[in-house]
Amino acid sequence: MSENAPAPLSGKKTVLGVSGGIASYKSIDLARLLALDGAEVQTVLTESAASFVQPLPFEVLTGQTPIRRMFPLEGGKSTGDMPHISLTEDADLIIIAPATANIIGKFAQGVGDDFLSTLLLSAKPPALVAPAMNPRMWASPALQENVSSLRERGHVVMEPGVGRMARAEEGLGRGRMPEPGDILLAARKILLPDPDLSGMKLVVTAGPTREKWDAVRYLSNRSSGKMGFALAGEAAKRGADAVLVSGPAALADPPGVRVVRVESAAQMYEAVKNEWADAHALVMAAAVADYRPVDPSARKHKKGDATLAVELERTTDILAELSIEKGDRILVGFAAETDEVTERAKEKRERKGLDFIVANRVSGDEDAMGADASRAWIIDSNATEALPVLEKGILAGRILDRLAKMWQNIIT
Ligand code: CTP
Repeated sequence: MSENAPAPLSGKKTVLGVSGGIASYKSIDLARLLALDGAEVQTVLTESAASFVQPLPFEVLTGQTPIRRMFPLEGGKSTGDMPHISLTEDADLIIIAPATANIIGKFAQGVGDDFLSTLLLSAKPPALVAPAMNPRMWASPALQENVSSLRERGHVVMEPGVGRMARAEEGLGRGRMPEPGDILLAARKILLPDPDLSGMKLVVTAGPTREKWDAVRYLSNRSSGKMGFALAGEAAKRGADAVLVSGPAALADPPGVRVVRVESAAQMYEAVKNEWADAHALVMAAAVADYRPVDPSARKHKKGDATLAVELERTTDILAELSIEKGDRILVGFAAETDEVTERAKEKRERKGLDFIVANRVSGDEDAMGADASRAWIIDSNATEALPVLEKGILAGRILDRLAKMWQNIIT
C-alpha cells in the first residue's frame, strides 16, 4: 500500500459477529485491524459476548454502535427495522470471531434464537468463522460435523490455534482463536481474491547476523529486522507466498509468513539458497556480516595484558552469488551507507546484478538502523526515486509496488 493509495479494504462492508468466550477481547483488536485496513465494520455482540467485552471499544474503533438485540428499541419502542436481513444483504463479508461451539452449532443447524444466529440464517457464503473453544469441545464429533457442514456450504472455518488454554492447568491444546492478524489475512483473501502479488514466492531476509568468536562472544551489527519483517508481512497481505529468513531479531512472526530463523551469515546463505530454488523474487534487507572470525573457539577466551587482534575472513556475498543464476527472477538489495549514499548504492546495484536497490543512510539524524521510519532512495537502471521519511510499513508498501509491477509484467 503506498502512501496515497486507498486502504485495501476501503468500500468493503463487514459484519463482525462476536460470541461469548474468553477470546472475545481479541475481537477488539480484529475490529481495529479491519478498520485500519479501510473496511466498514458493524459489530454484533451476543448477550454472552457482552459479559466479556463492552460495546464501547468497538464503537470507538469502528465508528458504529454494536448491535446487541433482535429488534432495536428507541425510547422503549421498536423502530420496526429488520437489520438482521438488511445487514446480510449489504455485507461483503460476515466474520464470526470468536466463534464458540454454540454459535457454530446454531449456524450449522439453522437455529435463529438471537440476533447473530438469526443474521447467519440469511448469510451468503463464504462467512469467515474463527473458532475458539476448549480443545475437547473442538475435537468432539458433533462439533466437527457442524464444521464440515459449514465448509460444504462454502463457508470458511479457520483451524483454531494451539496454545495455552484459559485455565493454566489445562495446558496446551487446539482450540485457541486464530490471531487477529491471521483472521485479517483470511478476510483479505476472501474480499480481494486477486491481489497483485498472488502467485509469487518471495523470499525476504531481515535482521543482523551473528558471527561466533568464542563460546559467549560474537560479531554483529545494530540491525533490528523491522524493515524485512514489514516487507514480508505486507507481501503476505498482498497475496505472496512470503518466506522470511531472519537473523536474530526480537520481533514476532508476521501473520501468514513462513519464518526461518538463522544466526550466522553462512546459515543465512544456506537457508536463502534453499528457498531461492523455486522462488520468483528475493529482497535482501538483512545486514549480513561481511567478515567472520577465522577460528571461532568452543571455549571462552581468557584476557591477557597484550592487545588482541582477531583474524577475520570473508563470508559469502549472498546476493552476488545468487545473481549468477538469476534468470528472469527479481533480485532486490539494500544499501546501508554513511556517505555518498546514492552513488555507492548505484555501484552496488550494478556490481551485484540487482533489478533495484533501496538505499538508506545509517548515520546522523536520519539513521535508518533500528528506527521505525526511514528515508530511502529506490534506484534501478533508469532512475533514482527519492522518497520522504516513511514509516517502515509504508516504505515496504512502496518497495512492493515496484515488485508488483515487475511481477505483473512477468506473468502477463
Ligand atoms: N549482502 C549479501 N551478502 C553479504 C553482505 C551483504 O547478500 N555477505 C546484501 C545485503 O543484504 C544488502 C546488500 O548486499 O542487500 C548490500 O549490503 P551492504 O552491507 O550495504 O553492502 P556490501 O556489499 O556488504 O558492501 P560494503 O559493506 O562494502 O558497503
